Amino acid sequence: MSFVLKVWETQISSYRLRSTEMGNQDLDQRGRWGSKAVFVFAAAGSAIGLGNIWRFPLMVGLNGGAIFVFVYILAVVMIGFTVMLAEFTVGRHTAKNPVGAYDAIKPRSLWKLAGYLGVFGCACFLSFYGVVAGWAFGYFYKTLGGTFKGEITWLASDAIFTHFAARPLEIILCLFVIIGLTTFVISRGVKAGIERWTKFLMPMLFGIIILLAIRAVSLPGAGTGLSFYLKPDFTKLNTTVVFFAVGQAFFSLSIGIGTMITYASYLSKRDNLVSSAGWVCFFDSLIALLAGIIVFPTLFATPGLTPDKFEPSTGLMFQVLPIIISKIPGGYVFGILFFFLLLVAALTSTISLLEVPVAYFVDERNWSRKKAALLVGFFCFLLGVPSGLSHGGVGIFTKWNFMKHMDLVFGNIVLALGGLIISLFVGYVWKIKNALKEISFGNTIFSLKSLWVFNVKFLAPVVIIVILIFILTLSG
Ligand code: PHE
Repeated sequence: MSFVLKVWETQISSYRLRSTEMGNQDLDQRGRWGSKAVFVFAAAGSAIGLGNIWRFPLMVGLNGGAIFVFVYILAVVMIGFTVMLAEFTVGRHTAKNPVGAYDAIKPRSLWKLAGYLGVFGCACFLSFYGVVAGWAFGYFYKTLGGTFKGEITWLASDAIFTHFAARPLEIILCLFVIIGLTTFVISRGVKAGIERWTKFLMPMLFGIIILLAIRAVSLPGAGTGLSFYLKPDFTKLNTTVVFFAVGQAFFSLSIGIGTMITYASYLSKRDNLVSSAGWVCFFDSLIALLAGIIVFPTLFATPGLTPDKFEPSTGLMFQVLPIIISKIPGGYVFGILFFFLLLVAALTSTISLLEVPVAYFVDERNWSRKKAALLVGFFCFLLGVPSGLSHGGVGIFTKWNFMKHMDLVFGNIVLALGGLIISLFVGYVWKIKNALKEISFGNTIFSLKSLWVFNVKFLAPVVIIVILIFILTLSG
């Protein structure tokens, strides 16, 4: 376990103090990423997680297949990248947590509330995200124990998941382990370098995903799955698809909730914000697209299964993976590795989520890191319990579909709202010329400048407002 802990520790741990750079006293006291590569790894670590592997295929399945993928890619390129760059800019300029950042640019204004939305939103997000990370932990030890040895049918796989997700004690224990580890890492704060482990683990996750994808596409009958996934049917395009695609882009890129403001606050003026955002968007989308290549061919090649069978927030990936793993030679070892790496990917995301409220309490309220991590961590754990129990664990939470609602509010609406606010803030309040000046440090030729300015001032706000109105009228 200590090996695993080290890996997680490294995520946050690269806030290196570099007192020789820049000579900025405040910034140096807060700590700084070792280099741009470290920052890109950390930001990609936050972005790549369950959102790519668990949630993306689920969203594709529920929203018309390839058409969703198409809109999703557009959303990442046009809106996701735009908002991410806006967050990086504000974060690096102010070198503060989201509340402090809004306040530094527009002191004593209501804009600060957007910062609070991020701080509170991250804690709530972590509560239900921690439950799914707990599933990954549960599947890791199940695989280790040999549960998925031998040929796994859909029925068996479904029964294993349903049975597991409905066991209150086990689920709460898994949630406790996840939040506990996250809290531990965050409370320890700064140490060692991120490169060492992530450089090694992320490519490994990538390698395993590729192998599984190759096996999936070579299954008999995989073609139907591939065309469901990759051949868009434009008659299925509607506002719901757009809403969930934009929501998924925000979810997967970790934007709209202050994480990227916070991470960029530890960044040096020498680093290139534009290419950093580009790389994070690229890696993140690549992993999500590959996850779909594993899920859909397997799903369509398995008798009795169709993607629309699944409710949001179920464990599609968890149910499909054992099937594909059981079909490859050495599947036992692959399974263990896969769930271990999924767990690491999930933890690099939970760490970034907890870092936002903790940075707030440390920066703005002068709490010690330890106290902030423990109290916020405990709050997230308590709030996570009803989500954990809403898959059959406790009748009333299951009936309310508690986790589905947490996902809708914090995994979609809050992120989109946060994205809207940061775009308006950068475009009209802080003013574009100041943002461009910040971007110019570390990047003198910003060739996409006019497109970004247009997107931040017009496209992102308009699209987000339209989908928010749509969702409010739907639920109203
Ligand atoms: N992007 C992460 C994932 O895809 C989830 C996340 C969202 C993390 C928002 C931090 C902030 O799993």
